[in-house]
Amino acid sequence: MPEILAAGGFLSMSEIWTEKYRPRDFSDLYGQEDIVARAEAFVKEKNMPHLMFTGPAGTGKSSLSLIIVKKLYGGDWRSNYLELNASDERGIDIVRQKVKDFARTKSLNSNFKIIFLDEADALTREAQQALRRTMEMFTQTCRFILSCNYSSKIIDPIQSRCAVFRFKQLDKPAIENIVKNIAEKEGLKLEENIIYDLFAASEGDCRRLVNILQASAVISKEITSGLINQITKSSNNEDIKSIIENSLNGNFTKAKEMLLEIMLIQSLQGADIIKSIMKIIPNLSIDDKLKVRLIEKCGETEFRLVEGSDEFIQLEALLASFAIAGYKEKARAQ
Ligand SMILES: Nc1ncnc2c1ncn2[C@@H]1O[C@H](COP(=O)(O)OP(=O)(O)O)[C@@H](O)[C@H]1O
Ligand SMILES: [Mg+2]
Repeated sequence: MPEILAAGGFLSMSEIWTEKYRPRDFSDLYGQEDIVARAEAFVKEKNMPHLMFTGPAGTGKSSLSLIIVKKLYGGDWRSNYLELNASDERGIDIVRQKVKDFARTKSLNSNFKIIFLDEADALTREAQQALRRTMEMFTQTCRFILSCNYSSKIIDPIQSRCAVFRFKQLDKPAIENIVKNIAEKEGLKLEENIIYDLFAASEGDCRRLVNILQASAVISKEITSGLINQITKSSNNEDIKSIIENSLNGNFTKAKEMLLEIMLIQSLQGADIIKSIMKIIPNLSIDDKLKVRLIEKCGETEFRLVEGSDEFIQLEALLASFAIAGYKEKARAQ
């Protein structure tokens, strides 16, 4: 059984390579030399303006923010750092309330605390105006780091209040460094010229790169171009159908492995997987009563996901309930 699924365990955050290999220090952040130099200067001064991190996904925006905070506050970073996601928090009012609560108390270690607002470009223009006022109101006690994919979606009055950091898509030398580092630590054997395949498959998104590597390593420690191809070819529905069938037939481990793979590689959200499962169930060649039972389980799981439960755990539990339904069905038919 692959190591990451050993002991029938669930995949914890520390076992996900994008967390395990999240850059911890300025020097771990590849391909963003100019940005890193500027950030280091702010940390040295122990002072900084509001910052805006803009650029494609998986280029190190969240990681750099964490590095800055840990360097500034050391062991006390948690009480000095608030991380919000503009597209999770329902509306600017919630963002403002959370900022207010956080900003009310002064930092014990420094002149300011830091608020990281991810996906700031998800805010409407009106919400951004409100954000600008909030930034001004708390400018004595807080610095904002706004993260977004497109700076053009952020209103000028905010942009002009921030030092803008433009993150570049990672180039081949950067990708090569990251791959070699992980390969060494995980004991992977890299086929010659595999960097070209990995570079193409990652599309410059480092999160995707690391996920592809991890999913490949589940299958084999020898990373070949054939393996990368196999991993990245998209065949959603066939894969999901096969996951359901494996669960129903009691091949729970196999089903879990496949689930992990599509969640990591195709970056599918739990809710999307459930929707696909619900579409596929009616077409399976199984008893109608069993179909009804499976659909009902999907509904329960979907509810839990909406309530914010852990996606891996809920989906694995769903597969387990399919396996149980499968056993019962077999027992009944005998
Ligand atoms: N510049 C980089 N150097 C090394 N690893 C990176 C870099 N950018 C991203 N990664 C990898 O991708 C993961 C996600 O990066 P993250 O900082 O969350 O990206 P972003 O916030 O830009 O979407 C990191 O945990 C790390 O494994
Ligand atoms: Mg991020």
